[in-house]
Amino acid sequence: MAADDPRSRASRTGGPVITVTTTVPATGGTFVARHEGRVVFVRGSAPHETVTARVIDDPATLESARFWRAETIDVLEPSVDRVPSIWPEAGTDGVGGADWAHIALPAQRRIATDVLAELLQRAKVTSFPLEDVQVEPAPHDEDGLGWRTRVRFAVDADGLVGMRGWRSHEVFPVGENPLAAPAIRELDLPSWTPPEGTEAIDAVAPSADAPAVVLIGRDLDPGAVRIPGSWGEAHVLVQNARGLHVVRGAETVREKVGDLELVVGATGFWQVHRSAATLLGDVVAQDLAVRAGDSVWDLFGGVGLFAARIGPAAGADGEVVSVEGNRRAGHLAAQNLAGIPGASARTSDAADWVRQQKRGVDRVVLDPPRAGAGGELMELLAERVRERIVYVSCEPSTLARDLAIAEQRGWRIEDLRAFDLYPHTHHLETVVVLERA
Ligand SMILES: C[S@@+](CC[C@H](N)C(=O)[O-])C[C@H]1O[C@@H](n2cnc3c(N)ncnc32)[C@H](O)[C@@H]1O
Repeated sequence: MAADDPRSRASRTGGPVITVTTTVPATGGTFVARHEGRVVFVRGSAPHETVTARVIDDPATLESARFWRAETIDVLEPSVDRVPSIWPEAGTDGVGGADWAHIALPAQRRIATDVLAELLQRAKVTSFPLEDVQVEPAPHDEDGLGWRTRVRFAVDADGLVGMRGWRSHEVFPVGENPLAAPAIRELDLPSWTPPEGTEAIDAVAPSADAPAVVLIGRDLDPGAVRIPGSWGEAHVLVQNARGLHVVRGAETVREKVGDLELVVGATGFWQVHRSAATLLGDVVAQDLAVRAGDSVWDLFGGVGLFAARIGPAAGADGEVVSVEGNRRAGHLAAQNLAGIPGASARTSDAADWVRQQKRGVDRVVLDPPRAGAGGELMELLAERVRERIVYVSCEPSTLARDLAIAEQRGWRIEDLRAFDLYPHTHHLETVVVLERA
C-alpha cells in the first residue's frame, strides 16, 4: 500500500478498514450497512453502494459495540445518486460541513425527506400524512452553491487558514469553498496570513452591509491586525479573552428581510442561508395567521426576526413578545422592535418565561436550537397556548420527539413543510403548524 493511499491514513488512525454495501439513509448524514452481522453507519457514502470504510470508534470498545461508525475512504461500486463532488476538499480526510457534496442535489432532498418521515414515524407522530412531506428547495436555489452567509475558518499552528475536518481538530485547506457566499470568497481569507494567536476567523456576509471579519484568539492583540486590501470596507473585529474589540467599522451588521432592516451582532446568530430569513419570515407569518389584537410569543427569538415580521399584524391592540436567552441578542431585539407598536423583547430562558405567564397566549412561534424545545416547554405550551403553535426546527430528531409530546397533550399537526436551507449537507429546516385536536 503506497504511503499516500487513503487506506494507509486510515490504518494510522487505528480503526479497521472494512468493505461494506450501504442501504438506506440513517440520521446524521450517514447510510446503513452491515459488517459480519453488525450495523455500521457509514459517512461519506450514498444509498446502495459498495465502499471501503474505516471504522472510527474507539478500538477498545469495538468488540462489545452494538454498532460501528465508519467513514468512506474508497468507492468500489458507486450509488446511482453519486456525482463528482461539488467540493473536492470536503469529506473524509478533508473539511467537514458538506457531507453530501458527492450526492446529486435532487437525491439529497429525496434522502432528507425519507429521513424526516422515518424520524416522525419512529417517534409515533400520527396526525399528519407523511407521504405529503417533501423537502423543498429555497426559492431560486438551483445549484445549492454560494448560500452560506456565515463561515467559520480555523487557523492551524503554522498560520494556515482552512477549515476543520469532521470530528477533528486538524485544519485542512478549503480550496474554492463553493458553499460560501461570494462576498466571503472575495475576502480571500485562505491566502491571508493572520496575526499570531489567531485560532479561528468568522466571516459574515450580511444582506445590507459590508462583510464582517471576526478574528478569534485568547491572547490576540487587536493592534496587531493589518487589514488587507481584499477586505474592502469590511467590519473588522477581534474576540479575545477580554471581550470583543472593534478594529474597524461596527460590532453589528444590517440584514434586510423584505421591507425590514434588522441589526444583528456580527458574532451572534442569524439564519445562514442567504434566502432563509426572508423565506422563514414569510412562512411563519402565513402559518401563524396573526389577527389584530392577538397576543403572541416569539420564543428563542434571536434579534426579533419573527416578532418584527408578525408585529404589524397584531397591531397596537395586540402584544408580540420576543423571548431570547442571549443578553446581547435580546438587547438588539429590543432595538429592532422599538418602532413596532405592541412588540417588545425580553431576555429570558424560554421555559422560565412561559412558566411565569399564567394567563397564557393566543399564538406562539418557537425556533429552538438543535436540542429542541424539550418536554417541559412542550407541556407548558400545550397547556398555555390557546390557538396555534408554529414550530421552526433545524433538527428533525428533536422535532419528532417534541411533536409526539404535543400530540399526546391534545394537539395535532395542521401543516408540515421542510426546506433545504443547508444544501450539500444532511441538515434541513422544518416548519410545523400545530392546532388543538
Ligand atoms: C435557531 S436560533 C433562532 C433565532 C431567531 N428565531 C431567528 O430566526 O433569527 C435559536 C435562538 O435561541 C436562543 N436560545 C438558546 N437557548 C435558549 C433558551 N433556553 N431560552 C431562550 N433562548 C434560547 C439562542 O441564543 C438563539 O438566538
